[in-house]
Amino acid sequence: MREFKILAILVVFTGILYWGVEPFAHSQMHAHVDKPDYEFKDLKGTGELKGDATNGATLVQANCIACHSIKSASFPPLMDDATSAASYGVVPPDLGSSGLIYDANYLSAFINDPATATNTKHKFVDGVAHPMPAYNWMPPQDIADMVAYLQSIAPKELSNKQVFADACQRCHSIKYGDFYGGSMTAQSDVSKYMGKEAPDLSQYIRSRSKTYLHEFINNPQKHIEATAMPRVGLTKKAEEQVVTYMENVGDSKKQERESLAWPFLGYLLVLAIFAWIWKFKIWRDIH
Ligand code: HEC
Ligand code: HEC
Repeated sequence: MREFKILAILVVFTGILYWGVEPFAHSQMHAHVDKPDYEFKDLKGTGELKGDATNGATLVQANCIACHSIKSASFPPLMDDATSAASYGVVPPDLGSSGLIYDANYLSAFINDPATATNTKHKFVDGVAHPMPAYNWMPPQDIADMVAYLQSIAPKELSNKQVFADACQRCHSIKYGDFYGGSMTAQSDVSKYMGKEAPDLSQYIRSRSKTYLHEFINNPQKHIEATAMPRVGLTKKAEEQVVTYMENVGDSKKQERESLAWPFLGYLLVLAIFAWIWKFKIWRDIH
């Protein structure tokens, strides 16, 4: 029975390390921040106002398509990517999917005042303006109408990769995934505009936890004060798709690895039984 005692002691101490010490150390080393807020309660969007998509279509056509394409609604880009990036720092994203991937409250607050909604006001001082104008001179009803229009033209479903492309790839490359439409031809413009290089996201799923990524995308300032990265007001679902895509790219063997856990433990068990029998055989002759 000595073996069982040794095993029990091992299990207890490993358990204390695994469930006690390690999580405690993590909680001390990483900042505690509030959970992501997918309603964006700190932003004043157009709230309960119901939008009229038909009027929204006219407004979007008059105000937005000079910079943004909406290919699915037959508004092609008016400039090539390189010119666009040189003018605005980044290629303004196609708005075809905005109504699906962005939370409606965030989206209306963003149109109202992009720097405030993205928590990047600290970057736009001393005469530097956000490349997208604020529409806070418009009546809130008009903004609600544009949001309703964007929602009406958005697809019902997008692949994880497409959500990532629309939400992140105008600034970030992900070289282990693949490139999307040459948006990264603008890397040097992006760095100039952001004042910082936007890192390649291929391996971030390994260097940061999923929780961190969710908190960071939902509100980067919580983790890195005064960071250049804007808040990206994704819905909970879209954000999960982005993180899943990052996991598929950066840790593509994860499922395979995890599915091996039980077979491997079974193998160890069989081995342990043989070791046990062998030990009996040897000690029987000695006693
Ligand atoms: C002068 C050019 C310009 C105009 C006009 C413009 N935008 Fe933008 N928009 C941009 C740029 C540039 C970005 C990317 C900014 C960034 O990523 O920092 C952007 C980003 C966006 C985003 C992405 C938001 C996010 O959080 O990532 C949405 C949605 C958007 N614009 C909607 C609109 C709508 C709706 C209109 C019309 C009411 C409009 N834009 C008019 C230049 C423009
Ligand atoms: C308008 C440009 C822009 C967009 C859009 C953008 N980012 Fe970033 N991101 C940046 C910049 C710039 C940095 C570097 C920030 C710094 O070093 O302070 C950054 C940093 C990061 C980091 C590193 C954080 C860390 O802990 O070091 C991650 C992860 C990240 N972004 C993920 C994303 C994801 C996911 C999306 C899409 C949902 C996204 N970003 C959209 C510009 C952007």
